[in-house]
Parts: sequence; C-alpha cells; structure tokens
Amino acid sequence: MCGIIGYIGHRPATPLLLDGLRRLEYRGYDSSGIALMNGDGIKVMKRKGRLAELEALLSEDGQKLESTVGIGHTRWATHGVPNDINAHPHFAMGEDLVLIHNGIIENFSELKEYLVGSGYSFQSDTDTEVLANLILEFYEGDLLAAVTRALLRVEGTYGIVVMHKNHPRSMVVARKGSPLVVGVGKDEIFVASDLAAMVEHTRDVIFLDDNEIGIVEDGEFNHFNLDHSPIKRKTTHIDFSLEQIEKGGYSHFMYKEIMEQPQTLMDTMRGRILDDGSIKLGGLIQHMDELAKAERILFLACGTSYHAGLVGEYLIEELAGIPVEVEYASEFRYRKPVIPPNTVAFAISQSGETLDTLEALREAQSRGALALAVVNSVGSTIARESVGGVYLHAGPEIGVASTKAFTSQVTVLVLIALLLRQQRMGLDEMSVEITQAMRQLPEKATRILEDQSQILDIAKMFCRASNFLYLGRGTQYPVALEGALKLKEISYIHAEGYPAAEMKHGPIALIDRNMPVFVLAAENSTSNRKILSNTQEVRARDGVVIALVTEGDTRMDDLANHTLYIPTTHRLLVPLLAVLPLQLLSYHVADLLGLDMDKPRNLAKSVTVE
Ligand code: F6R
Repeated sequence: MCGIIGYIGHRPATPLLLDGLRRLEYRGYDSSGIALMNGDGIKVMKRKGRLAELEALLSEDGQKLESTVGIGHTRWATHGVPNDINAHPHFAMGEDLVLIHNGIIENFSELKEYLVGSGYSFQSDTDTEVLANLILEFYEGDLLAAVTRALLRVEGTYGIVVMHKNHPRSMVVARKGSPLVVGVGKDEIFVASDLAAMVEHTRDVIFLDDNEIGIVEDGEFNHFNLDHSPIKRKTTHIDFSLEQIEKGGYSHFMYKEIMEQPQTLMDTMRGRILDDGSIKLGGLIQHMDELAKAERILFLACGTSYHAGLVGEYLIEELAGIPVEVEYASEFRYRKPVIPPNTVAFAISQSGETLDTLEALREAQSRGALALAVVNSVGSTIARESVGGVYLHAGPEIGVASTKAFTSQVTVLVLIALLLRQQRMGLDEMSVEITQAMRQLPEKATRILEDQSQILDIAKMFCRASNFLYLGRGTQYPVALEGALKLKEISYIHAEGYPAAEMKHGPIALIDRNMPVFVLAAENSTSNRKILSNTQEVRARDGVVIALVTEGDTRMDDLANHTLYIPTTHRLLVPLLAVLPLQLLSYHVADLLGLDMDKPRNLAKSVTVE
C-alpha cells in the first residue's frame, strides 16, 4: 500500500527520504518519487518500479540536491496504471504546488469535471492530481486554508502532505481514513504514514486522527480540526526499536517472523495468565460487565486475520458457550447486518489499518455493538477507534505474508475464550488444563522450527506442483485455509483449503497423481478420526498425501505418502502448532522457486483501500 515520508529540518532531505521510503517498501508499491524544495521552486523526480529505479534517476539527474525540505512517496496503483506519470508526487497545474496522497478520492470524476470547466488540465489518470488542482483552485496565499477548503469538498479517504513554493519551509498534512503520524526530532520534523519510516530518527510522535489537519514548519507542528479549532495533543513516546524492524540476520523478514514465534507467543501471553490459571486482559477490564452479558460475539476481519477469527469461533463456542459469527469485513459492512442486543464485535487486524475492517467495526458500533479490537500495531486507527481490546505484542510484522500475527491472534482469542468461560463458570479444571498447555507452547514451537529438514524435503518434491489442496476438520479447517493462503500468496501456486469432509462434494474431482493433498490430522479426537476416511478417499484416486499428525500417532503410517509430526498439546491449541510447518513449507517452496516472499507480486502489507 502507498507510503508517505516528509522532512523539514537542517539535514539534506534526499537521503532521509530515500531511507524512509526503503523502510516503507514492505507495504507493497509499484512506483516511487520525491519532491524537494529547490531554490525558488519545487523539483519532482519519480519512477515506475522499485526504489532502485528512482535512485538511478536521481543519480542520472546529476544535480546536487541539497534541499532540507522534501516529501517522498511509494505508490500502489488504484486509479491509473503504475507508470512514471501516475507516480506521486503530483504537481498542480503550474508546478507551484505538489501533493502526495494515500487513499482514494471517491468523487474525483465530479471534481475533475468542475476543474476542467475552470480551465485546469491534467497529466495523469490519478485522483491525487485532481486533489492537487482543487487545492490550487482555493489557494489565495494561505496553504492551510486552501487545503481545508478542498478537503471539505472531498469524499473518500486521504493521508496527504502538500507543499507550495511560496512557503518553502512548511508543509500541510491531513488525514481521513489513511494513517499519518508526525515525528518530532531536534530541530527537525518528520511526517510519515508509518512509524517505520522515521523510527531511526525520532520516537516522539503525534498521531493524527481522522478529519485533522496540521502545518509543519521549522521545528514546529500545529494541528487543528477541519474548522480550524486548535488541537493540543501531547507527543507519544514509541518504544519500538529499529532492530525490531530489521531482519536480524535472517535472509527474509518472513523467515525471521516465522522463527520469532516462540518469543512472540510468550510476549502475547506475558502477564495475562495468572498463577492460578485465571486470565487478565488489561484492555478489556473496563468492559467486563458488558462481556459478562455478551450473548453474541462477532469477529470482523480479512485474510489471515479472518482465519484466526474462524479458529476463535470454535474456541469461544466450545469454551464459553456464546454463539460466534465470523464475517469478512468487506461483506459485513455492505449488507444490512442484524445486531441483536448484547453483541460484542471484535475487529481482528495485524496492521490496525485495514480499511474494510475499520469500516465494518464502525458499522457494527453504529448498530449498537460494543466495538473492541484485537490488533498488533499500537496506536493504529482500529486500536484508537475501538473502545477497548487486546494488543498482540508480536512486534512489527514486515513480511507481507502474515505469520507471527496469526499465532498471536489465535493466542489472544484463546485468552478471550478462557476469560469469557471463567466469567460464566468460574475457574474450572478445563481452564487450568488449557493454561498449563499454553505455557508449554513456546518450547514446543521451538522444537518444530528447529528441525526443518523434512519440510524442506517436501518443499523440494512439490515446488513444481501447479495445485495444492489443504484439508482439515474442526479447528484445523481454518488452519487448512491459512496454509493454502500462505502458499498461494508467496509461491503463486494455486492452493485451496477445505473442510476435509466437504472434499467429496466437489473438489474430489480434482484429485489425481499430480495433486498433492496436505491433510491436517494433528489430534486424535472422535471428529478428527473421520479424517482417516477422507484421506482414504484421496489415496483411492491416486492423490499424494502429506499428513500432519501429532508425535506418537501411527494412524497415518500406511495411508500417507509423507508424514510430518508436531508435539502433542491440548486439543484446542493444535492450530497454534499445526500452522508452523505450513508457514515453513510455503516459505521453502517460494525460496526454492527464487521468489521474493517479502514482497510478493500484487500484494500490499496494509490494505487501506476497499
Ligand atoms: C495474508 C495477509 C493478509 C492480511 C489481511 C488483513 O498473509 O497478510 O491476508 O491478513 O490483509 O490484514 P490485517 O490483519 O492487517 O487487517
């Protein structure tokens, strides 16, 4: 997704902007550019493709760019194909005013028509250039006033930074629906869409909220509501090190994040399971009465977070006896959802910025649900808009494919399920058993991650397959979905996840000797025993079975072509271990195919468009 960085200070801006853009690369982009205050004008340089293309352009240009004021952008195309012209920054006509923008201006065609009628012409296909010209249309010497007037005409979402040559040491910033944060350093100010872009230089930040606008000037930031009433918000100190967002010696962020999971599981649980097995979740303490009365739980999420929600559904229904619905956030908000009294809605999101999830939560809240969240990114929009919730404490997730966030999300959902159970039934044996098993998870996860030789062998055998099927029952069905999503998004191999018994209602037609089928059978409960017959059905049609079972389980010995083992754990915690070999398999397949799994094609880390 698009990324923003801006700088006003005393150091040369170009290297700082390029560094910032590099740290935003993980969000996904297809072009990049910078604009610098340059003497009495503004210089814009932008290029389609990777940052290296922009750097090449800067060195080709050969000019000494010593400006100490500038903005930079990585664009992920929404309106108009990725090319040099559609890349940001965008000049308004006359090249006095320049704009970078994250988000989408929904009424851009009406605005463009109005501007064309007033004599404006356009170079690009973007909604951003329309906004740049709209600001120019209202400019009468006061940039803040012009941006405000323009934004009052805009429908849609934006995080923007605007510069005008008449104000060589200032820039105007504003946000609605697209994150923006201002970093306050010593005699210098940064603006970014993401903390990662500035954390090397300052950790004292001010988060903008929706419908807020601000003006950054030398060493100073003033910020207002759109009616220009001033906002006084203290800076927040972020405890977030650069090392945390770097690769720490691993070849890829995704691999680092897979390997970090024993630690992140511990971090997610830390301080939340008391010695006697009772659960304490600080972010929910204010809402204990509403949770005690909850008659229905709603999980709103997308992608991997949605799969975590599906695991949560099994957990809460079994442990707390409360009906749960898990909804794709994008679908939920556009139907007319019925929210009965005493509904508690949880948005689940790693980034806390997924627009569909944010809007779904707003929709649920407007219909009377208690709006809570399970989020990783501290200070993100969903975290701030929900009335309470639980942070994952998994640290920044940079790899586009979500891995450690999934296991931390499921861990938090186990904790929430136990909390709801304990409210209803007190601290019983089952709660205590599960919490004891949870404490052993980091060590068991380490064992899985330590020896990858068998997974690597399987990756070598199947990395040229064109299709994969993942089957699971019960809590392992969402893990099958997650395994398939991981494989397709980073290796581009088509993969489907199915409830194992559902296979015979259609997908079985696909099975032949070229179809590897990953069967998740990692526990020996009554329902899961039926997976043996589902596996027979695959073998009877020449399908190749890779089975995942728990150590000591011999049921698949004569059935599967290949068997992987994970340590035993409590039945309800199996997803937390079963997903690890699937993440590793996807990683190794992509690696063997020579693909860049940290930046898979067409994907963005944080999806802030609908
Ligand atoms: C898959 C993946 C995506 C995200 C989805 C939601 O690996 O990363 O499917 O899970 O875009 O993102 P968050 O959790 O940030 O709301």
